[in-house]
Amino acid sequence: MNDDASPMRDERDLFHARYAREMGPLPTNPVIDAMLAHRSCRAFKPDALPAGALESIVAAAQSAATSSNMQGWSVVAVESAERRKKLFALADGQTQILEAPLTLCFVADLSRLARVADAIPHPREGLDYFESFLVAAIDSALAAQNACLAAESMGLGTCYLGVLRYKPEEIGALLDLPPMAVVTFGLSIGWPDETRPTFIKPRLAQSSVLHRETYDKAQALAPVADYETALDAFNKRARNGQPLWGLRSASRVATPESLNGRQHLMATLRRMGFALK
Ligand SMILES: Cc1cc2nc3c(=O)[nH]c(=O)nc-3n(C[C@H](O)[C@H](O)[C@H](O)COP(=O)(O)O)c2cc1C
Repeated sequence: MNDDASPMRDERDLFHARYAREMGPLPTNPVIDAMLAHRSCRAFKPDALPAGALESIVAAAQSAATSSNMQGWSVVAVESAERRKKLFALADGQTQILEAPLTLCFVADLSRLARVADAIPHPREGLDYFESFLVAAIDSALAAQNACLAAESMGLGTCYLGVLRYKPEEIGALLDLPPMAVVTFGLSIGWPDETRPTFIKPRLAQSSVLHRETYDKAQALAPVADYETALDAFNKRARNGQPLWGLRSASRVATPESLNGRQHLMATLRRMGFALK
């Protein structure tokens, strides 16, 4: 466990910060360092992004692997103050949308492939299956994480926005999405406000998530108690007053209503053109 109270200790040793414990020497490089240094940023300065930053970030996003090269995702960049306000109003009061100069809305997008097939013309019944929706959702996530890392490598802060799935139809209308396209999540991007700093949030010990050859059910659970202690110390340092990890995580899935509207997602997606057979 981390018994070193110095905050600087964390920032100097990224593996230590990520696990709130000694990890021993591990191979690293600037790319891995950038990944290890990730922390969500929810407080932004109003300053504009550098010229070309959006296009560079999207090039990084498009460089992610994509299932069968179908590229079943799109992204809508929301920069205008007016549309950011409308997005904010649909997104459970997440002020980072108002503060950050850019919010990327990642879209699981089967509409383009549907239109490509129709133009040939060619059958496309496979798009009506859950597998095709999953492929598009996975593609959007892989692209988004590349975008996130690219932005952070420029010194920008980022925050994912799963709240954009609270009201997918309204968000779709705001962005003028076609049928068979839905926002999977957003990513707010801007210059971090250093007066409201963020820290590297510890994760579960590797022994909880890394299984060798077969899944070890006991080991998946064993590190949780230590993790709760470490995360509780982090939360006190970050002054965010959160309950213990297990309780907080369980409360996010306690009832259908805990999903904040997302419990209706299957029916909503069907209305948005995904048959999900
Ligand atoms: C798909 C996804 C959706 C998220 N949605 C939100 C959100 O709506 N609002 C928010 O403040 N953070 C959101 N987050 C950020 C997580 O809360 C955050 O990544 C997690 O607490 C770990 O903290 P860290 O990113 O600082 O390491 C989301 C993260 C992911 C991956």
